[in-house]
Amino acid sequence: MFAGKFSAGALTIGALIAATTFTTFLPAPIKGQAAPARGAAPAPVAQAAFARGAQTPSARQQQLRTAVDEAYAKFKAGTKGKNADYIPYLAKVDSNLFGISVVTTDGQSYSVGDINYSFSIQSISKVYSLAMAMEESGPAEVFAKIGSEPTGRAFNSVSAVVEMPTHTGNPLVNAGAIATVSMLKAANANEKWNKILNFYSDAAGEKLTLIDEVYKSEAATNQGNRALAALLLKYERIYADGLESVDVYTKQCSVGVNTKQLGMMGATLANMGKNPVTGKQVIKAENIHHILATMTSAGLYDGSGGWAWSVGLPAKSGVGGGIVAIVPGQGAISVFSPRLDDAGNSVKAQEVISYISTKLGLNLYDASPDLMK
Ligand code: DON
Repeated sequence: MFAGKFSAGALTIGALIAATTFTTFLPAPIKGQAAPARGAAPAPVAQAAFARGAQTPSARQQQLRTAVDEAYAKFKAGTKGKNADYIPYLAKVDSNLFGISVVTTDGQSYSVGDINYSFSIQSISKVYSLAMAMEESGPAEVFAKIGSEPTGRAFNSVSAVVEMPTHTGNPLVNAGAIATVSMLKAANANEKWNKILNFYSDAAGEKLTLIDEVYKSEAATNQGNRALAALLLKYERIYADGLESVDVYTKQCSVGVNTKQLGMMGATLANMGKNPVTGKQVIKAENIHHILATMTSAGLYDGSGGWAWSVGLPAKSGVGGGIVAIVPGQGAISVFSPRLDDAGNSVKAQEVISYISTKLGLNLYDASPDLMK
């Protein structure tokens, strides 16, 4: 569906760096914005916000904006896929919500669509809990205790836990993510949850909050995840109380983000762990390549191979409908649209990121920096 010809586009990676020297971006305050509306009426469609100030964009900036605007117009009417329905709250989210944000490593942003709507981060959270685990325990211990092998199976697969030598698989499938949460150091579950929320907020550069209705909806229906935790215990691959770990994991999946906040979290990864606006080094620079590698091999679950084949950018999806893709050193593309494909990845988000990446020549495997000559 999002395959096709993916030759290098009009912009090289270096050119995109040049393309991102717009006016300095300061995040708009979330409080007081027109109804960020958790589950309520979405913000008006097609509102666009570009950074601060009214300077005329350069030709490069205009190319970036044009690619985003074109993608928005091209895919807006699409109805392929369907909302996740195994979490009752998600089944009720308006399927037509659609937003795109691009955030660059110098703190610029360009957003179009339902950009104030706060959706649940879901599995995209797993990336940041992985980052936290490495901050605390180092990459060697995380690799030993969790691993980083793609499962080739659904994100909530039981058979993967049984059959894979590591059992945990990788930190981006449910079993590996629950085990990753179990690794995080805290005196109790509440302290762990607060540390997680603060860490995510640091990555976003502003305070994030739990969408309580999502949490309650998922907590009431997450018997599958509790079963995964029990199975991990059998293999001695969970490192704290299983049910408590599932509960904290469920909370982390219920954190609300809008596309710009998610884009900023992505840009923090693209910026070697430093939030581009606050300047805080949230993730150690030396851990970034481990995270991006895991996103490449497992970020879209059993869709990861096809994604790497066609788009060539590390990315992570969530069943809430978000996907964030990382362009190392340059920025992130974040898209929200609730309709998912069979693997649990937003259809429209894949289409949009694929389109923008192709247009701007962002595929990492097309880049040819003069590193070896
Ligand atoms: O545990 C779950 O099933 C959800 N909280 C997260 C799954 C998810 O987002 C998979 N992503 N595409």
